[in-house]
Amino acid sequence: MPQFTWDTAYEVGDSEIDEQHRRLFDLANELLGADTKASVTAAAIQLYQYVRVHFKHEEDLMRRIGFPDYRQHVQMHSQMVDRLNALSADIADGCWRSQDLRAFMNEWLLIHIAEQDTRLADYVAAAAASSAPH
Ligand SMILES: [Fe+2]
Repeated sequence: MPQFTWDTAYEVGDSEIDEQHRRLFDLANELLGADTKASVTAAAIQLYQYVRVHFKHEEDLMRRIGFPDYRQHVQMHSQMVDRLNALSADIADGCWRSQDLRAFMNEWLLIHIAEQDTRLADYVAAAAASSAPH
């Protein structure tokens, strides 16, 4: 089964965010590779928990730097958490499909990374540059 492959093109330029995104790929791959209900459940919980940790990191960062698109970005995070909740419910019911995880990764996470998180990282870099000593 093809796995999710991290590509440097997905890097947004903030090392901590990039690191966390790579970890999300690893966890999604663990879920794809899980083959018993117990291991699928455990992998899904790990992915879910780490998604929450990662979103909280970004949201704390956005508040700290006064990111202008904070509300919109947080709203997208909560939509992704809803998607993961639906996936978890399907896993609990024994009817989850790996296509649902692929759709989550492709349509949501990758697009979100490419568009929203890149904008956030650019803003972080600009804020750091403007506050750097001249
Ligand atoms: Fe984000």
